[in-house]
Amino acid sequence: MQIRVASAQPWETRGELLVVPFVGEPDFSTPLGELDTHTGGDIRALAAFGELPSKRYATALAAPGDLDFKRILLVAGGEPETFDSEAARRLAASAIRRLVGREVKSAAFVLGPVAVGLGQDAALAAELVVRGFIEGAFEPKTIYREDSDAAPPALDELVLLVGNPRYQADAERGAERGRIIGEGANVARRLANRSANDVTPQVLADEARAIAEANGLAIDVIDERRAAELGMGMFLGVGQGSHNPPRLIVLRSGDEGAKDARNRLLAMVGKGVCFDSGGISIKPADRMEEMKMDKTGACTVIAAIATVAKLSPGLPVLALAPAVENMPGGGASKPGDIIKAFNGKWVDLINTDAEGRLILGDAMSYAEQRLGATHIVDVATLTGAVGRAIGNLVTGVFATPDPWWGEVEAAAARAGERYHRFPLVQDYMAEMESWYADFQNTGTPDGSLVKSGLFLEQFRTVPWAHLDIGGTAYFRKATPYATRGATGVTHATLVELALAGAQA
Ligand code: BES
Ligand code: ZN
Ligand code: MN
Repeated sequence: MQIRVASAQPWETRGELLVVPFVGEPDFSTPLGELDTHTGGDIRALAAFGELPSKRYATALAAPGDLDFKRILLVAGGEPETFDSEAARRLAASAIRRLVGREVKSAAFVLGPVAVGLGQDAALAAELVVRGFIEGAFEPKTIYREDSDAAPPALDELVLLVGNPRYQADAERGAERGRIIGEGANVARRLANRSANDVTPQVLADEARAIAEANGLAIDVIDERRAAELGMGMFLGVGQGSHNPPRLIVLRSGDEGAKDARNRLLAMVGKGVCFDSGGISIKPADRMEEMKMDKTGACTVIAAIATVAKLSPGLPVLALAPAVENMPGGGASKPGDIIKAFNGKWVDLINTDAEGRLILGDAMSYAEQRLGATHIVDVATLTGAVGRAIGNLVTGVFATPDPWWGEVEAAAARAGERYHRFPLVQDYMAEMESWYADFQNTGTPDGSLVKSGLFLEQFRTVPWAHLDIGGTAYFRKATPYATRGATGVTHATLVELALAGAQA
């Protein structure tokens, strides 16, 4: 898709589809009024008939009148008070998804209302709109088949219309950033959606290697022999029930030992369980097929470090993806096994289905102790509980200390992603006590979500944030703005968080 910015009004340009967003009530004293005149009053007529979309992401088609377009697509941005980065990108995604199965090759998008809605920020508006188009056009059906008429149109051209030439440069810069971030999210989604008979830990490592080579990243893949030498008992314990051996994928942008402009080294750690059967503590059959998605965190950090390298080449950042299959094979770990972690702590394995925290714990302490990470963010489909608590639109977070959460929150706001922070209630560690080891991997069921965070906390000393995408990693049903399957959630937040280290 060609993406261009043009400083022109809709009536000074031409194309197939003209997308006209509006935030709040349509205001005909703005350029929308002049646009309406060109349509022969069709937009006002829609308003008079009560047919103008008002609910956020709702759409309506209007006649082009004397405009040189075939159709006008109106998209509602909803209330201005709650219009934010998330609304902006989803509005754009709704526009492209509204056209599923249509033959449209070129679209022009009136940027003004989105920029105004975001506080006169043309660069951010362009970035989010382009992201919305690219992420909205993503369709998982095309992964294993070519023939998908259920997919939104693959546009040849998207033109962002800025009325005033003074916004041209900002919008161009934002559009390019949006293209790179949107495509990065789709890399993560495409990989996450692939099935477990396709993507084994070795295949994930091969994919990471290809991405590393294409983006000038260093890569180290730690196999089961080296992991044993390193003493990664938790990581190996999860992987040993499968015929497909585990791989710890380590990617680095920037020079070895280098720090960013703030003298930091951020490690992004992603859970890479290529299939989570639960192991010996086996899961029920219902929806077990969804557990091919348990590698989404890994896919996201792999895509995110590539995106960061594209936007800020050489910026020092790490991505670690412990990749395993959690299977109940003859060699599998058993409940009651006592396991020694890479950082020397002993763990009493109560439930083999609480495996994500084990592989992440070893990867996090390796990042800190061996690779010099000064800050950690991990992404994981860690619990079902987080989805039951806050659903599929908000990602759960555990973070410490508070200022680091503040930085994650700021990155998230810009990225247009929603998070909710849960407390690390230290008292509950007592409920994870073990007779034989330092602690159990689960503990009593009350507050199990908090306990998942507390467990991970034992494997780092530096500032750390844990993003639990157990609810948000994939959609079971399509929405106006997203297809079903992997959502790409947290990719943009990780990118913003890493790029904050590009300026001191
Ligand atoms: N991968 C699952 C969590 C999950 C389940 C994510 C469903 C998305 C959808 C994780 O490994 C798991 O099994 N967690 C257990 C933890 C429990 C054993 C303490 C859970 O959530 O039930
Ligand atoms: Zn899992
Ligand atoms: Mn599990």
